[in-house]
Amino acid sequence: MNVEEITMENLNLDQFIADQTENIRAQVGGEVAINALSGGVDSAVVTLLGHRALGDRLKTYFVDSGLMREGEVEQTVTLFAEFGVEVHVVDARDEFFVALRGLTDPEEKREKGITEVFYKDIFARLIKETGARVLLQGTNYTDAEETKAGIKRQHNVFEQIGIDPQEAFGYRVVEPIIELRKPAIRALARFLGLPPAVSDRPPFPGPALAARVIGEVTPERVDIVRRATAIVEAELADTGAFQYMAILHEDRVTGVRDGERDFGLQIEVRCWESTDAATATPTELPFDTLRTLADRLTSEVPDVVSVTYNVTTKPPSCIEAV
Ligand code: XMP
Repeated sequence: MNVEEITMENLNLDQFIADQTENIRAQVGGEVAINALSGGVDSAVVTLLGHRALGDRLKTYFVDSGLMREGEVEQTVTLFAEFGVEVHVVDARDEFFVALRGLTDPEEKREKGITEVFYKDIFARLIKETGARVLLQGTNYTDAEETKAGIKRQHNVFEQIGIDPQEAFGYRVVEPIIELRKPAIRALARFLGLPPAVSDRPPFPGPALAARVIGEVTPERVDIVRRATAIVEAELADTGAFQYMAILHEDRVTGVRDGERDFGLQIEVRCWESTDAATATPTELPFDTLRTLADRLTSEVPDVVSVTYNVTTKPPSCIEAV
């Protein structure tokens, strides 16, 4: 890979911020740039670095893909207003669901349903509207490394797999934190004054809840996984785990409810111990916690009749299911 990791031991935060604001200014020149904020730690750090470097010449957008978690859009806009960053919300819900319609293959979902809509449609349109030539984004070292290794097509990695964004989409992509892994990005977030709700926030993938719906991603199926996610996040927030999630399976299974057969949905819960997402082990959750999750998921999420817990390590599992 043509990028070298800066490890935690070698990271001088003051110096890194100075270098990257300089890098962003040099790359953008006197022009305007855009960036997309998801509320996660990577894009939050890039938003603050970009605003330090460019001030109002950076236009920040939150793309509402219809695939986000409960309350995520409003929380992010409100938080960044406190940092003096105006976040423009782009309602792209229909665009994503139309692109995802009928897709069931994971890589096709990622490429055609997510990547192309973000980069060819939405960002290209924002670039045109604002007159910008550059997109700033929070690709990190693990994203680039895994995509390069052919493990998974991360939605935001191009150069490492031979795609020139300028040629493919008509604009340049600048990646200020591509040398850092998650722990270093969290340290940077704290140093920049971001609250623990952002700096310590469990990772959440760019394809959002689409990474947690096996099979076709429809508004109805995303709604199910969104409700399940809210329950899993509430119940596991105190575990201190690296990441925890609900996954909606494609297959239905026979259950029984109120004395009648119910051919219902299956939710898989995953909870991971990891430092950088490159490898991970399942958290040894107390059985009571698992039972509470099962009770809540089957009673509060429509149609769910089965809840399972993944006890596999990564590898051979991945953290996300899609
Ligand atoms: P996997 O599923 O590959 O996940 O073991 C490793 C870490 O990356 C996150 N992830 C993504 N992040 N775009 C992202 O920005 C993606 O396409 C993507 N896929 C997975 C995942 O949540 C985990 O933290």
